[in-house]
Amino acid sequence: MFYEGPVWYQRYFSYHKRAQVRTFLHFAAANYLARVYLNGEKIGEHEGGFTPFVLEVTSNVRDGQNNIVVEVNNVRRPDAVPALSTDWWNYGGLTRSVDLVDVPDVFVQDYFLQLAKGSADQIAGWVQLDGASQPQTVSIEIPELGLKKSVSTDANGHAEFRFPAKLTLWSPEAPKLYRVVISSGRETVEEQIGFRTIETRGTQILLNWKPVFLRGISLHEEAPFRGGRIVSEDEDRTLLEWAKELGCNFVRLAHYPHNEAMVRLADRMGLLVWEEVPVYWDIAWQNRSTLENAKAQLRDTITRDHDRASVILWSLSNETPPVPARTEFLRTLADYARSLDSTRLLTSAMNHTQPAGPNTRSLDDPLGQYLDVLGLNEYVGWYERRPEDADAIRWTSSYQKPLIVSEFGAGAVYGKHGEAQTRFTEEYQARVFEHQINMLRQVPSLAGMSPWLLMDFRSPRRPLVGIQDFHNRKGLISDGGRRKQAFYVLQRFYGELANSNPH
Ligand code: GCU
Repeated sequence: MFYEGPVWYQRYFSYHKRAQVRTFLHFAAANYLARVYLNGEKIGEHEGGFTPFVLEVTSNVRDGQNNIVVEVNNVRRPDAVPALSTDWWNYGGLTRSVDLVDVPDVFVQDYFLQLAKGSADQIAGWVQLDGASQPQTVSIEIPELGLKKSVSTDANGHAEFRFPAKLTLWSPEAPKLYRVVISSGRETVEEQIGFRTIETRGTQILLNWKPVFLRGISLHEEAPFRGGRIVSEDEDRTLLEWAKELGCNFVRLAHYPHNEAMVRLADRMGLLVWEEVPVYWDIAWQNRSTLENAKAQLRDTITRDHDRASVILWSLSNETPPVPARTEFLRTLADYARSLDSTRLLTSAMNHTQPAGPNTRSLDDPLGQYLDVLGLNEYVGWYERRPEDADAIRWTSSYQKPLIVSEFGAGAVYGKHGEAQTRFTEEYQARVFEHQINMLRQVPSLAGMSPWLLMDFRSPRRPLVGIQDFHNRKGLISDGGRRKQAFYVLQRFYGELANSNPH
């Protein structure tokens, strides 16, 4: 149960080589350090537990019988991302799919299509080919709009484009996706892409130029009913349908990039998404390789999901100490994120605030200056004060920026009932949510919330026998799929918000 260390995988497979074809191994994720051997030869390794990676095996794979061996080691290290301490289970190994992929010798390696910044009727983006030794013609087609554009790549196989398009914009209420066909030479890639604008104005978040309030919930990538890492889209769908039932238009995929199908499902179901890299609690801020690792995980998350309309926020960190080395580390990460994707908003979940007058707390974390949207984790009524104390507490910040309360909550064992002042009863958790909602109604810069969290999840830090049994019990739904009283408190509040301000 608590094993951490290397696990080994081995498989024989037969393969038929063809001319003008290149072959890659695609790993959707491997937690945490993977080493890959093909036919006895090491072909590469990858660090980072939640992002995809590919290894070219064109010259290694044989015509006929092949033997692949993979070692994955989930042992935690102080210089890793995350480091030694997390409040989630360190599920190790090949946690997502592994595919052998054949592509033409010149193929579409990546592409980015979104609305041009500040426009609702101009599509801008780029296509990147791999293997092209001279300029190639690339066509971008959106059949439903009768659009077909051709561009020519430069010497590096890169082509940028911008063209007018009369679009139905994507939104949670109407998650319109267009079939997009990108073709070049002998390859055609089909995609489903939605188009929307996202920006801030003062303390508001604007979706398609209308203020939107993010009725959210946080969730881990934990399988409902059986526990463990999610391995199927059905399990993704169960969680996102529960979020919809709660009345959400927003999900915070904590604390690491979830599987790709979860984000594609959010695109189709109309849920706005906060995605996050696991720069969690305290990590080796002064260590150069740690920064490079965090940048690589951020790059691979953005590269995988930058065509998903549902994704509006990239989050750089969770509950990190406001010391200079950390703020410098995250400033670098913020600049890097913007260099990769200037169309989305940057945020982080912070939890250090200052007293600012009687019953008033201010979020002045220096990290806030590098963010578009402030995330605040606070646990009034659980880790501090009593639930009813929340009614009188006010929150402010030294930034004129939208604020998302990215975590609040309380533990409860499904089916444990008692006086509302008895911790871990459903009644206590419901009371915390009632008083938190009273408090958050008073926060003028509040643009959204993603309470902690949708479903109970496994954690080595939660050992209380008969209460936690190595589960964090802050779920509004138990790991057995049973709704607690607090689920209905939040559902009622979100229903009221949705009726009063549908956007
Ligand atoms: C922290 C942290 C979560 C953790 C939660 C809790 O805010 O961000 O990862 O699970 O609080 O203590 O339950």
